[in-house]
Amino acid sequence: MSDVASSHGDPTGVLFVCLGNICRSPLAKAVFTRKVEDRGIASRFLIDSCGTGGWHAGGNADPRTLQIAARYGIEFEHTARRVRRTDFEAFHLLVAMDTSNMNDLLELGAPPDRVRLMRSFDVTLAGHTGGMLDVPDPYYGGPEGFDQMYHMINRACDGLLAHLVPAQR
Ligand code: 4NP
Repeated sequence: MSDVASSHGDPTGVLFVCLGNICRSPLAKAVFTRKVEDRGIASRFLIDSCGTGGWHAGGNADPRTLQIAARYGIEFEHTARRVRRTDFEAFHLLVAMDTSNMNDLLELGAPPDRVRLMRSFDVTLAGHTGGMLDVPDPYYGGPEGFDQMYHMINRACDGLLAHLVPAQR
């Protein structure tokens, strides 16, 4: 299976992955879902999010994440879950929010050719590597961290969409 599915056939599976699945990856799922809905191509994608840790499984997104999403016009429902080994087959792309999440996925046995860092899709960061491409965990910080998280994720989702749907006319 290639990381970019054809325009016909099965939907392209995109799984956003962070640590707790209550801040970064739920927002990434919501933002990317909005972008494909706005383009009228939502049916081409299977989009989900999860965490490498299970502490928050079954719970809602962090209220600060819901608040920042609402500020930018996005409302969503969420139930946190931990990553499953079956995700590694079910999703074409496993999009990790930071380097630690990416390494955890690889240690769990995720196929390396399906694992990418979220901000590697941000075209304004071309040439950057490693920790420069992390979406920092905003959980223990202040509200400005959540606003920065939104903008990082929004830019990366634009690049991700361009990567998955190149030069669509
Ligand atoms: P997330 O943020 O990985 O973006 O969902 C975190 C949420 C909770 C915790 C860590 C990170 N935690 O340690 O509970």
